[in-house]
Formats: sequence, C-alpha cells, structure tokens
Amino acid sequence: MRKSRIGVLTGGGDCAGLNPALKWVVKTAMDESLEWERGTRYEVLGIRDGWKGLVSVDLASPDTEGHISPLNPEIVRTWDRYGGTMLGTSRFSPYDPKNDCSKQLIENIERLGLEAVIAIGGDGTLAIATRLAREGVNVIGIPKTIDKDLPETDYTLGYETALNVIVEEVDRLRTTAGSHKRIFVVETMGREAGWLALEGGEACGAYIILIPEYDFSLDKVNELVMEGRRAGTRYEIIIVAEGAKPEGGTEIVRKEGVDSFGHKALGGIGEVLAHQIEEGTKIETRSVVLSHLQRGGAPCAYDRRMGRYFGIAAIDLIVNKKYGNMVCVHNGSIGYCPLEKIYGRLSVVDPSTQYDSDRYNGRRTILNGEKKSVRAKKSQRKV
Ligand code: F6P
Repeated sequence: MRKSRIGVLTGGGDCAGLNPALKWVVKTAMDESLEWERGTRYEVLGIRDGWKGLVSVDLASPDTEGHISPLNPEIVRTWDRYGGTMLGTSRFSPYDPKNDCSKQLIENIERLGLEAVIAIGGDGTLAIATRLAREGVNVIGIPKTIDKDLPETDYTLGYETALNVIVEEVDRLRTTAGSHKRIFVVETMGREAGWLALEGGEACGAYIILIPEYDFSLDKVNELVMEGRRAGTRYEIIIVAEGAKPEGGTEIVRKEGVDSFGHKALGGIGEVLAHQIEEGTKIETRSVVLSHLQRGGAPCAYDRRMGRYFGIAAIDLIVNKKYGNMVCVHNGSIGYCPLEKIYGRLSVVDPSTQYDSDRYNGRRTILNGEKKSVRAKKSQRKV
C-alpha cells in the first residue's frame, strides 16, 4: 500500500469552525475503510501556529513537538465542539519582504515528506498558499474568516458563529438601551468588507447599519435618529463596521501602519461616532466594541457542518491530486476553485443591490423595483 503524508495548518485570525474542519480532514484522510479504494494510506501532521510552525521546525532536533504534532482520529474526536484552533495560529508571512523565509519553508515541507499541505485561512494565508503552489508545492485551501470577504465562495468558516454573537450581544444591549432611552453604537469587525455589519445588523434588526462600502453622512445619521425619536422610539441600535467612514473622511485605526499582509489595524469608529451623535442629537449615546468576541465561542451548527464538508472535500481533492485549489460552496453545493482565482481579490458588499442607502440599512425590496437582483451580485475588489 502506498503511503502518503499530509500537513494541515490554520493561519491568520482564529474563529469558530477551524476545529471541525481539522477533525474532518484527519478523520477522512485516515479512514481505513477507504484505503483499498484509494490505494493509499494517509498520515496527517498538524502544523502548529500557521506557516510559522513550518518555518520554525528544526528537523535536526529530536524535539519537533512544539511545531509538528502527528494527528489521528482519536486525538481529534471531540475537536468539533470547540472554538479557536487546537493547532494554534499566527499572522506570519514567510514572504515578508523584510524577512523572506519561504525557501526554508519549502525545504521543510520536502524534509518532512509532505505530499500536500492543507491551509485553512483567509486572504493572507491563502495568498501564501497560492505563491507556494506557483513554486510547485501541492497545496489545498479551506476558506475561513469572520469577514466573509473571500471571493469564489458563498461561505467562509466562522462567519455564521460571529453573526450569532452580534445578535446575542445586541439582544442584551436592547434592554439597557431601552431602560435608559439611550443610543448604542455597536462596532463590528470585518475589515474592508461590510458583510458582518450588514447581515449581523439585519439579523438583529438594527436601526442603522454603516458599512465600509458606502460612506455615511453624520448629519443623515442624526436626522434618522431624530426621525425615530419623533415617531416614538425609546432607543436606537446603530451597527458600524470597523472599516466604515464618513463622507470625505478616512477609516479610524488602532495603530498606524500595516502588518506583513498589508492589513491596517482598524478599530475605534464606534466610540468616535457615539461622541459625534451625542453632540449632534443631544441624546445620551454609548458605544460597544464587539471586537474578538465575534471570533470566540463554540462553533454554531452551520460552522460545524461546513467545517465537516470543507474538511472532507479537501481530502477528496488530495486523493484526486487536484492541487492548487480552494474548496468552496456555491448555492449549497460544495466545490472547488483555483487558488489563483482568489489571489489579490476581496468579496465586498455591492451597495447598489444589497444596501439601502436612503435608510442606511438592509435593502427594503428584494424581488421588486429597480433594485431587483435575481441573483444578488457580489462586488469584487482588487487588493
Ligand atoms: O480578519 C479577521 C479579523 O477579525 C478582522 O475582522 C479584524 O480587523 C482583524 O482580524 C483583527 O485582527 P487581530 O486579531 O490581529 O487583532
């Protein structure tokens, strides 16, 4: 029987759904009942802390445990119940121009005898996977990110659990907001994509939703608030994406500069906006930053299911030697697409079909009127 070794890693920001995917990668690869049909016995090595683990492992040392752990179905049996990633993760790029260690990484893949590497990640991690594929490494991608900003897939692991966090936290805020007749500005994550804010806001019934794809006018926000108060509302929930900005303004950042993937450290718009609204409306306004709470907690049922399907599909691709692809989902069907097709692109909200710019909220018509979209088109952006 032919033997083959697969490496699997999780890279970038953690989220719910990673552990279910890891579990099903291992269970599917090591399913003994499929060995004869495949003619191959697979072994799976878990790589710790993302790409960093593959660069840091010193194969000459007897102690590689900190970076590489052999996995088996018994070890991963209960992993799908837990949030985060049992393998650890990092925001580490082997192609960082200031410290390019990609040669070392490729050498280690060869020395570990990995026939293929499965990278579970967002745009940064999968951009690295694409570059490795160009250099001849057999890679498969699994999409994950609470931002849901990867193109060529309707879903990225972690997103639905993050939406549930937004809904749960807003439900909690409603009682205190109503008691005090206050406005609450709730800042969500999402980087340059408004999916979390828009669909989280739609799910929790927010009064106003501000997204990065449509610059807002502060006067208009205040007017909408006052209109609500005149109509008798006691409180307002305003969801603002961390990447949203006022007309003619810029995003608010936690610190200047970008990381090795070119990402800005966005954050802080909620507090700034709350002050401005209070000043403009004279209504007591508070802000809450949901921040990493959106990435935490146990995976919801959908993330467990999608983690399972993506994990199984990733192994199917390896069995069929369809390297250089990312597993994906379209209209409920699991499939795959070339990693090259997602490289340097982001999926963002198309405000002309998916946003109501008059009410700063979700669209008010879905099947009627000129904003009718038979199949809501996703807007694509070069990054
Ligand atoms: O990409 C996922 C994400 O949670 C973004 O929404 C957010 O801007 C960023 O990661 C935060 O990164 P960090 O965990 O490094 O603070």
